[in-house]
Amino acid sequence: MQQDRAKHVAIIMDGNGRWAKRRGLPRAVGHQRGVEAVRRLVRGIEPLGLDCLTLYAFSSENWKRPDEEVDDLMNLMRRFIKSDLPEFVENGVKLKIIGDWQSLAPDIVAMLEDALAQTAGGHQTLAVALNYGAQHEIARAAAKAAKAGEITPEAIEAQLDTGDLPPLDLLIRTSGEVRLSNFLLWQCAYAEMLFVDTLWPDFKPEHLAQALENFDARDRRYGGR
Ligand code: FPP
Repeated sequence: MQQDRAKHVAIIMDGNGRWAKRRGLPRAVGHQRGVEAVRRLVRGIEPLGLDCLTLYAFSSENWKRPDEEVDDLMNLMRRFIKSDLPEFVENGVKLKIIGDWQSLAPDIVAMLEDALAQTAGGHQTLAVALNYGAQHEIARAAAKAAKAGEITPEAIEAQLDTGDLPPLDLLIRTSGEVRLSNFLLWQCAYAEMLFVDTLWPDFKPEHLAQALENFDARDRRYGGR
């Protein structure tokens, strides 16, 4: 059966630390190269025809990492937004943030609010998961649905952070690990999944193009026949 092209792809960007370790470099360098991979990918998504790319940048569990690494990641975030925002605006990339991002450092929250406002007119969504955990997202959505008086799957789904995004078609995780790590648990109900060995800093737009070809070859039945 001919199926639709993927419109929404999400990626668990894993393997920055191992990439650095293999080269005898500090983990921070792995994360820097990870940001470069993000930049490369965002620059390369236009021709792939995606409506939305969702990236797992910082999980609610990542706070357990050493302070120095958390600081490195937050500083990379600051620098990334500052340096790449003009390009997003120019290229029609619409930023969206999912997760409990309002509780990040106030300067980051302010930068993100500004970036959201500046990119609101874009046509291709880049959703970044920050301080994100899917179980919390579902609990928050269920609480909102209950408050509105209706706990149904549809009502909960509409209240998820991703409620305004297209359904997730494909989830990719890099670095050979095969688990979801509390990412988009609800949205993965009918998503296809692809686990690749490539470490995140080595991931290129060609890898995403290959993943989309792999997706095209699959037969999605959503429980039917
Ligand atoms: C996993 O690698 C990656 C992360 C915990 C963070 C992902 C962050 C980036 C790619 C950079 C920040 C992103 C943006 C959008 C500015 P790991 O450290 O768990 O690698 P390992 O499993 O090999 O140790």
